[in-house]
Amino acid sequence: MADVYESSHPLVKHKLTILRNKETTPKKFRELIREISILLAYEATQDLALEPTPVETPMGAASGALLREQIGLVPILRAGLGMVEGVWEMMPGSEVWHIGLFRDERTLQPVEYYNKLPVSPTVQLCIVLDPMLATGGSASATVDILKRWGATRIKFVGIIAAPEGIKMLHDAHPDVDIHIGVVDEKLNDIGYIVPGLGDAGDRQFGTG
Ligand code: PRP
Ligand code: URA
Repeated sequence: MADVYESSHPLVKHKLTILRNKETTPKKFRELIREISILLAYEATQDLALEPTPVETPMGAASGALLREQIGLVPILRAGLGMVEGVWEMMPGSEVWHIGLFRDERTLQPVEYYNKLPVSPTVQLCIVLDPMLATGGSASATVDILKRWGATRIKFVGIIAAPEGIKMLHDAHPDVDIHIGVVDEKLNDIGYIVPGLGDAGDRQFGTG
């Protein structure tokens, strides 16, 4: 059984407050998504396996360790795109696979429109990136896609969640760790997180 981790880091709380502010510009919003994603990925990768690796410094031998696992970053388009770059800089050996889903505004069901997975899995760990976990439909559908394709170890990293989304993802995929910046109060009647931050895709890309 996997776990749900809500960040308690002061830097995450500080940056989230500016991110939520309706006056925050798209440029600043993108910077904050990037920075918060790095902090959350740091928390989500505490259990990565290491390979003991000796290293020669200019002063002599030291014992070191390198990452043993291959990691795949899986941003859910569009809003997950802004989370990739910073996390990728921390793990430059990762592969990035894009999954395109949008929510049908009437049914709130995810609709798949893009999938760029290689023929068979090449990594040991997939990290799904999406800032918003609202009903949980998009995240669950993405994990379904990854599992059908053969992924065995999957984590979800998001910035704001509704309790409904956490429950849906956790019930559907109890083996997937959920790392989230903050769990908000609820969903409203059109499926938006309250208080949330509005539409994460529109606020990043200046649309809507
Ligand atoms: C947003 C968000 C998630 C989804 C969350 O994407 O980025 O992918 O909604 O909602 P859910 O948990 O109810 O599925 P959206 O469908 O608005 O597409 P966009 O990122 O292209 O704007
Ligand atoms: N998608 C968003 O971008 N925001 C929400 O509050 C819910 C889904």
